[in-house]
Amino acid sequence: MHYYTGQIIGLIVAETQAIAQEAVGLVKVHYSELPHILSIEEAIENNSYFPVNRRIVKGDIEKGLEEADFVFEGETRIGGQEHFYLETQATLIIPKLEDKEFEIHSSTQNPTETQITVASVLGIDANRIVCRVKRLGGGFGGKETRSIPLSLALAVGAWHLKKPIRCMLDRDEDIIISGQRHPFLGRWKVGVTKDGKLLAMDVQIYNNGGWSADLSVAVLERSMTHVDNCYYVPNVRIIGHLCKTNIHSNTAFRGFGGPQGMMITENIMCEIADSMGIDVNDFREKNLYVEGQQTHFNQTLKDWHVPLIYRQVKNDSEFEKRREEIDKFNSEHKWRKRGLALIPTKFGISFTALHLNQAGALVHIYHDGSVLISHGGVEMGQGLHTKMLQIAAETLDVPLETVHLMETATNLVGNTSATAASVSSDINGYAVSNACKTLAERLKPYREKMPDKSFKEIVHAAYFDRVNLSANGFYKTPDIGYNWDKNEGQMFFYFTMGAACTEVEIDVLTGDHTILRTDLCMDIGRSINYAIDVGQIEGAFVQGVGWCTIEETLHFPNGHTIHSSKGVGEPPLFLGSSVFFAIRDAIKSARQSNNNGATVALSSPATPEIIRLACDDEIVKNCKVERKDGESAWALRV
Ligand SMILES: *[C@@H]1O[C@H](CO)[C@@H](O)[C@H](O)[C@H]1NC(C)=O
Ligand SMILES: *[C@@H]1O[C@H](CO)[C@@H](O)[C@H](O)[C@H]1NC(C)=O
Ligand SMILES: *[C@@H]1O[C@H](CO)[C@@H](O)[C@H](O)[C@H]1NC(C)=O
Ligand SMILES: *[C@@H]1O[C@H](CO)[C@@H](O)[C@H](O)[C@H]1NC(C)=O
Repeated sequence: MHYYTGQIIGLIVAETQAIAQEAVGLVKVHYSELPHILSIEEAIENNSYFPVNRRIVKGDIEKGLEEADFVFEGETRIGGQEHFYLETQATLIIPKLEDKEFEIHSSTQNPTETQITVASVLGIDANRIVCRVKRLGGGFGGKETRSIPLSLALAVGAWHLKKPIRCMLDRDEDIIISGQRHPFLGRWKVGVTKDGKLLAMDVQIYNNGGWSADLSVAVLERSMTHVDNCYYVPNVRIIGHLCKTNIHSNTAFRGFGGPQGMMITENIMCEIADSMGIDVNDFREKNLYVEGQQTHFNQTLKDWHVPLIYRQVKNDSEFEKRREEIDKFNSEHKWRKRGLALIPTKFGISFTALHLNQAGALVHIYHDGSVLISHGGVEMGQGLHTKMLQIAAETLDVPLETVHLMETATNLVGNTSATAASVSSDINGYAVSNACKTLAERLKPYREKMPDKSFKEIVHAAYFDRVNLSANGFYKTPDIGYNWDKNEGQMFFYFTMGAACTEVEIDVLTGDHTILRTDLCMDIGRSINYAIDVGQIEGAFVQGVGWCTIEETLHFPNGHTIHSSKGVGEPPLFLGSSVFFAIRDAIKSARQSNNNGATVALSSPATPEIIRLACDDEIVKNCKVERKDGESAWALRV
């Protein structure tokens, strides 16, 4: 059965890449159009879901909505996003004929699952397969599971041909075959008191999983646990639906549903504030959680710094002063409008699947005094290995140059979790640290006996005394363990928090926008490596900006319309939405200057077409605008 355009239908193996590509060109595929479902709306209409039932209920939603002075309803649409990692999916499989062993070099965030899945496809035990990863040219979640199908196909080829096989997808193949970030739809009903306090929040969340479930349940769960963003609501009901459609299987992408959940909330905040005619920032500030309150999944907030960060960014960005300057600018300019937005965020740190919150490490000290460490995490440009080397050097109290890390491999550390969920430095770091502590303890008597000697001499002495200079380390995150049925137990080990304030200018005539300034603050605790963390924040922010402005995924081949497709670290990613909400603010000014005070429901991404249309002036009114349901895909017919 084939479910989507781009699904792999076979494998061609050739001596060279050029021959293989030529052969692919000779394959004739006959397509016939079958009944299909592409968008979330079509899935809802046809009742096309994966059978999962997720809900989080706190308080009494009916009573809360009844007691509210105002009840607002709306819909929020959020589009997908292509990972566009620097290196496309790539795998090399080398069969070792003697003992039916296979060596896999894969650009995967998940060496263990690659190993286990290839073993099951070949019908052999996992102990005959080693998956090695030196580093990836970026992953962003796109290689957490969607890297595995390529390894499976190649493994079957290598099994039959008894030869090494390598494949690296071309960019277009990669985009067509592998999944993207999930598009989401939120349908909400929110009750508010007349003094602007949130009282009840009833949200139906839909995500477009594509043709297979893959990680979509976990992505849905994370959106459901982040739909409060930073706001306290006493009565909450969140129901999650997973739509089954005939597109590529959507998958993990930095933020993993969290940004989509928070995007729904912040749209709710804006639309309610506009409808009530109150200032959205006052509305936000009034509803921020305070220390000790419980989230809708009943986690008590400890070390809660969002109100402080929010006020700090507000002050440091000179928010009030610039608000006045922007209002003045907007009153003097008809075709250029500026907007300002200040957005808070929290992001829960832990895998929502409890068993994944574990990590292992293996550390050898060679008797020349050099140290080799291995751990379960994969390096993909995020600087994980650098942090692990720092932790090992600090725990063993040796210079950084003494410690080396060769690769991630399943025969060094087994049963590893995917490098994902922003936990990898934490869990692998503890595992490395635990292994190094064991070794430091064994070397302690020698360090005490010979305090003036070098590490090399100390190690050498221990070796001659037959001390074991290898150790493995293990870590499991304590305290956590949430029960979805009972809404009890701790979901996240902790939260990473931040806020960003962005000013933009839009060109009302073209829908183009320019970011004029962003002030951003993240609480990253005690940083292991400041330079890496700043890089991660900047990278995540920019990727978040792309997600909610210029990157749009379209699935609608339609000759009659003009398409404008622009195929182009987790917690800060959502702050990219400060650009989106600043754009929204600018659009509001543009509409007001046309005496249009109606609340705008802006779908993400806010592409130039969307911005242009949302300004909704005389010129737009003369165009016939046709909107395709779902995906935030719009078609313009003039
Ligand atoms: C979905 O529902 C519509 C309207 O009822 C129908 O026309 C269409 O054939 C259905 N699609 C599939 C794939 O069943
Ligand atoms: C929420 O958690 C607290 C402990 O933090 C517990 O006392 C309370 O019973 C829980 N509430 C619900 C509704 O499960
Ligand atoms: C407020 O921001 C200004 C600069 O914009 C800074 O000089 C001042 O120290 C800040 N005040 C607080 C309390 O952070
Ligand atoms: C690896 O995981 C399997 C099952 O998931 C378990 O049986 C085995 O004990 C684990 N091994 C280690 C070293 O943790």
